[in-house]
Amino acid sequence: MKKILPCILSVVAFIHLSAQSSFIQNIYARNYLSLDGRWHYIVDPFETGFRGFQGAKADEDEKLGGFFQNKQQQSKSELIEYNFLKAPTLNVPGDWNSQDKELVYYEGTVWYEHDFNFHPQPDKRYFLRFNAINYEAYISLNDKKLGIHAGGFTPFEFEVTKQLNDGNNFIVIKVNNTRKKENVPTDNFDWWNYGGIIRDVMLAEMPQAFIKDYKIQLAKKNLKTIEGFVQLNGVSFSQQIKINIPEAGLQTTVTSDANGKATFTIPVKKLEYWSPENPKRYKVSITTNTDSVTDEIGFRTIETKGADILLNGKSIFLRGVCLHDENPLIPGRPRNIDDCKLLLNWAKELNCNFVRLAHYPHNEEEAKLADSMGLLLWEEVPVYWTIDWTNDSTLRNAEHQITDLISRDKNRASVIVWSIGNETPSIPEREKFMEAMADSAHALDSTRLISAALLAHNEDSTTIEINDALGKKLDVVSFNEYYGWYMGGMPWEINKYNFKIDFDKPVIISEVGAGALGGFHADSATRFSEEYQESVYKNQIQLISKIKNLRGVTPWILVDFRSPKRMNPDYQNGWNRKGLISETGQKKKAFFVLKDFYEKKEKEFNVVKY
Ligand code: GCU
Repeated sequence: MKKILPCILSVVAFIHLSAQSSFIQNIYARNYLSLDGRWHYIVDPFETGFRGFQGAKADEDEKLGGFFQNKQQQSKSELIEYNFLKAPTLNVPGDWNSQDKELVYYEGTVWYEHDFNFHPQPDKRYFLRFNAINYEAYISLNDKKLGIHAGGFTPFEFEVTKQLNDGNNFIVIKVNNTRKKENVPTDNFDWWNYGGIIRDVMLAEMPQAFIKDYKIQLAKKNLKTIEGFVQLNGVSFSQQIKINIPEAGLQTTVTSDANGKATFTIPVKKLEYWSPENPKRYKVSITTNTDSVTDEIGFRTIETKGADILLNGKSIFLRGVCLHDENPLIPGRPRNIDDCKLLLNWAKELNCNFVRLAHYPHNEEEAKLADSMGLLLWEEVPVYWTIDWTNDSTLRNAEHQITDLISRDKNRASVIVWSIGNETPSIPEREKFMEAMADSAHALDSTRLISAALLAHNEDSTTIEINDALGKKLDVVSFNEYYGWYMGGMPWEINKYNFKIDFDKPVIISEVGAGALGGFHADSATRFSEEYQESVYKNQIQLISKIKNLRGVTPWILVDFRSPKRMNPDYQNGWNRKGLISETGQKKKAFFVLKDFYEKKEKEFNVVKY
């Protein structure tokens, strides 16, 4: 039985996932009870508490057994070998690695349990929402099965109207972050495999018929038309839907079809367009006779034209930096909006107008923050290095993650690039996979740019060639290159190189950089010294400036980050040291080299205020 189980599970998981791809849009603007706080946990490397989770569909009556029962000893002679109430607690949201010293390196199963008192209203519907759990989660409420989710960085939810008790309720979740070849990401990556309930948990209270999803943005390449859709849930007949943008004097009323969907266009008279220099957002409200929701939305167009990237019709240079979703001061996954602010403020100090959120969907709040701070974003799914290309369920998982990411952040003006992967080898079985991903992303959102971080390679001794066939499918050609660090000799030798790029499209250098231990000073030939890193940046700026279609760069990386692959005892100790800022927040010399370059670039592109 054990042998069959895993493969059945993986198929079941994906069937289940596709059913879950749509979740309530803009959950933070809805009525909800936060279930964040201290959750009990039991570490269970042997999965002793697991007695199976047959089938996918929630089964109201079926009792789950195992730890899902959350049993308490009733009599002195009863044998129970676990007790959540007496178990220690972890903070939710938060990864377990940074909260329990014994779990720093732990990969496996941890059980979470949380009690909450609640009195459901008869005319309301309830949804249990998880904004991210890494990696695989088996979810139950009151010993009733809700479902399974795989994928560590995107939201999912279950309707629990029928499973809720009037009074005490308990949630039990089996979380497992074991790395597997067939997962997305696969079993090898250069960041810390933080496990657990890493983002907010909420119980959302919705009317019987409510506004589930919507998109409201400018039409593709069109500054004069707002277009979008609204998807209602729980309706069986068409409804009036009012979309109102009072400050812009814009509104429309449309009628949904029998499936609760309505599409609309609104001609624009006068509008302040969103840009990094002027991150103007408008209050937008959507109202039906049973529900309403308000959002803060910026309106801008993004497109490419030849070698240019046009923001609101004007050419822009993307002064960027890469970033992991990690607060180095913890170190751990961001636990609140302030952790996100810390990171984006550092990017602003670097004079960035663009941030590549690597290599997986970051905290939902980060995109909203970027909207308000005037930072453009590149968002990505963790199709990273050597994915299990020929495994259909791996492709479905990857497509599911890009679908969820685009669904979650489609109303964010800051988001201009969807990236379908990073450093994937150009081999036939990968072509098929990545072309399918590109097609899905284009189909899901034609108003934004689709890209991926490609690999450059040396054709001959001095030519860096970018000829990855996937480039054909991408709006912007982006590639990573580490000349002066992993190849190409010493920093001052890299200027002998030239680029041969087989696509006449805008080019973004999606990674470039070098390691340095903050505070370690020596000559520029000494690895891991700030001077070496500084020299790489100075020479790289000259090298990449040779690219005539260069329209952006996102050096690797804003701040040092944890990685179990970096174990040099003198300089790394579990940290990737390519940050421009150290893990204690100290700016390294290279930070100022890049900042200066960006000041020049800003003047050069001289983006006019709208
Ligand atoms: C790779 C990869 C990063 C990694 C970096 C490095 O290009 O995309 O995830 O951390 O290089 O080697 O530091």
